[in-house]
Amino acid sequence: MIELVNVEKTYHTSSGDIHALKRTSLTINQGEIFGIIGLSGAGKSTLIRCINMLEVPTAGQVFVDGEELTAMTETQLRKARQNIGMIFQHFNLLASRTVFDNIAFPLEIQGLGKDEIKKRVEPLLELVQLQDRADHYPSQLSGGQKQRVGIARALASNPKVLLCDEATSALDPQTTKSILNLLRDINQRLNLTIVMITHQMEVVKEICDRVAVIENGSIIEEGNMVDVFTNPQNQTTKEFVKSVDKNTLPESLKSTPVSREYFEGANLAVRLSFFSGNADKPIVSGMIKRFGVDANIISGNTDQLKDRIYGNLLIVIEGPQKALEDSLDYLNSQNLQVEVIGYVK
Ligand SMILES: Nc1ncnc2c1ncn2[C@@H]1O[C@H](COP(=O)(O)OP(=O)(O)OP(=O)(O)O)[C@@H](O)[C@H]1O
Ligand SMILES: [Mg+2]
Repeated sequence: MIELVNVEKTYHTSSGDIHALKRTSLTINQGEIFGIIGLSGAGKSTLIRCINMLEVPTAGQVFVDGEELTAMTETQLRKARQNIGMIFQHFNLLASRTVFDNIAFPLEIQGLGKDEIKKRVEPLLELVQLQDRADHYPSQLSGGQKQRVGIARALASNPKVLLCDEATSALDPQTTKSILNLLRDINQRLNLTIVMITHQMEVVKEICDRVAVIENGSIIEEGNMVDVFTNPQNQTTKEFVKSVDKNTLPESLKSTPVSREYFEGANLAVRLSFFSGNADKPIVSGMIKRFGVDANIISGNTDQLKDRIYGNLLIVIEGPQKALEDSLDYLNSQNLQVEVIGYVK
């Protein structure tokens, strides 16, 4: 649905050139929710603004829905942009217009008649649950409501793609959740392709199908959200994952010396991660029976990655060295992820 081919963006400033986006190629499929995560200044906004040509790339090609935006005239581009809605961190609503008139704005620009506009705006108000606020002004709305107006306005011209630049960054966690739910609902109901720019891993894990990590103007990691989340490769990606990891080591283990090598009388601490389904199998009790070891559960929790349940279990296995090694081999042969923390007293 969206394809960037060798896209670059350099800003020429008085103090020199800034390579905000280095040569980048990226494909985003029809109907998916694609996350782009990165720290401040990484080039996220530059990248997303190249998709609708709010920023004209310095080099490369941009295709949306099979059409090359980078080869279009201004008039063609204006038409093509109707296919691409966008929402912003600070909503960018017109303060002097009511909710209804904000949503109607792009349709007025397209030259639609009053009746037609009404026919389009009313179902959108319903979709974002603001029917009773149609005559209110932005200043009378909460942040979450303002973003709902932003979403309705972005959907007014029936776009195929919705670009979201930090759409939930100005919202509290609960409102963020409700906006993400709305976006997910719209994605499924309208089969809309959504690109989410964010610096929050929560956003990615809540709704994204795939994700790219951007740093210093380059995509450094890209893949299926669940894969990136459960098995991050790059250091920056690991930091992002850690930022939402509820399963840090408990204080008791943090203060214990951990050894990579076995020592006399040591126990083995491991972290098991698994998706629900695999988790039903009594793997730990199987290990205890098989190798005559003991296992203490130190902590455990479950987490949700989009619509899958992801569990974590931190255990300390007690037994003779050989039994510990056999237990580890056994765990590794099961359908779960095993992270060896080390040998502890
Ligand atoms: N119009 C501009 N002129 C000059 N430099 C710019 C311009 N826009 C962005 N930059 C620079 O390009 C780099 C990338 O900026 P960009 O806004 O894309 O980052 P970002 O990832 O969106 O950051 P944030 O999370 O803070 O919004 C930064 O170094 C920024 O200062
Ligand atoms: Mg930005």
